Amino acid sequence: MILVTGGAGFIGANFVLDWLAHSDEPVVNLDKLTYAGNMQSLQSLDARSAHHFVRGDIGDRVLVESLLREHQPRAVVHFAAESHVDRSIHGPGDFIQTNVVGTFNLLESVRTYWSALAPEQAQAFRMLHVSTDEVYGSLQANDAPFTERHAYEPNSPYSASKAASDHLVRAWHHTYGLPVLTTNCSNNYGPYHFPEKLIPLVIHNALAGKPLPIYGDGLQVRDWLYVGDHCSAIRTVLANGRLGETYNVGGWNEKTNLDVVRAICAHLDAAKPKVSGSYADQISFVADRPGHDRRYAIDASKLSDELGWRPRETFETGIAKTIDWYLNHPQWVDNVTSGAYRDWVHQQYAAQAR
Ligand code: NAD
Ligand code: DAU
Repeated sequence: MILVTGGAGFIGANFVLDWLAHSDEPVVNLDKLTYAGNMQSLQSLDARSAHHFVRGDIGDRVLVESLLREHQPRAVVHFAAESHVDRSIHGPGDFIQTNVVGTFNLLESVRTYWSALAPEQAQAFRMLHVSTDEVYGSLQANDAPFTERHAYEPNSPYSASKAASDHLVRAWHHTYGLPVLTTNCSNNYGPYHFPEKLIPLVIHNALAGKPLPIYGDGLQVRDWLYVGDHCSAIRTVLANGRLGETYNVGGWNEKTNLDVVRAICAHLDAAKPKVSGSYADQISFVADRPGHDRRYAIDASKLSDELGWRPRETFETGIAKTIDWYLNHPQWVDNVTSGAYRDWVHQQYAAQAR
């Protein structure tokens, strides 16, 4: 079995669903259920005994070590993090606590477990750390995309905290021999994406008749990858990645924010036309994000050349799937945006604690 951290978040939930669609190998899913964790995303697994959910913090050494001893996973896949750049600007403390201190504690728990394994299990064991392209900083328009050898130059509290966690993971490999793998991925989009991030926020606001906020001039560039392709990259690296190596993951899909928002509006105009005008009429330019990185672009050729991974979706096919998913799941969006989901978590776990 494998232990997944943060498996109720956007990418983690997609990964758990994808994993159990491909295999019967059980998953222990450890998630603190912060505002970003959502059990609704995992509802289709309610009948699957292969999914075992535990609410808890990656920094809780007693809990994590007891889970590892009890379930004896062959791998840990580490998604849990605070992930939103804007929130990191307003309140960096949680980012340091979970992304840096939490990852440190998780590494120590995993090291304790791994050190006690029999030689054969210890040799087969892997810890895969899921990270971001933001650790490399910002590119100029004509710079080559980030390779794994690019210097770390994080610019936001979020990216600095992820960079710190990458360094810890690297050091635990070099110093203690912990069998780690790291992936650094570009911007994901797809189902179950919390509507604080650009793509789900724009879909949600467009349908609600609200403004579509574009930071600054909207010409910042991101390299978009459909979340299912990120999941397949992680499965590939976990299965065949070389120990201690990092692999960049990206979609070869560089787009300006304005182009992304216009593409969403065009798709919605066709799928769910407004009474008059276009959704693009709702575009509204707002103040820029402080320290806003201008461009990210990933060179994923190491992953594709060494391990044969390629994304299946283009931006056009991926965004069409994503918008269709949001149109067909209004309840999921209503629950996360209305606060009903938060109320449910509170009631559910308060009742359980009695
Ligand atoms: P998310 O914010 O949607 O989900 C994070 C999950 O982690 C939530 O379920 C939350 O409850 C859980 N969590 C937070 N703190 C925790 C703690 N202390 N203990 C246990 N669980 C905790 O994030 P996401 O977008 O799914 O990102 C997942 C990972 O992928 C992160 O490490 C992020 O840095 C990385 N990443 C994200 C993207 C992207 O575009 N979203 C791209 C590249 C890498
Ligand atoms: O690159 C990978 C990273 O992608 C991940 O590590 C992060 O966890 C993830 O949140 C994402 O970070 P970004 O800051 O790039 O994503 P976000 O969706 O917040 O913003 C995408 C771009 O859109 C960015 O240039 C800011 C801009 N933006 C965002 C919002 C929410 C707007 O113009 N308006 C908005 O309202």
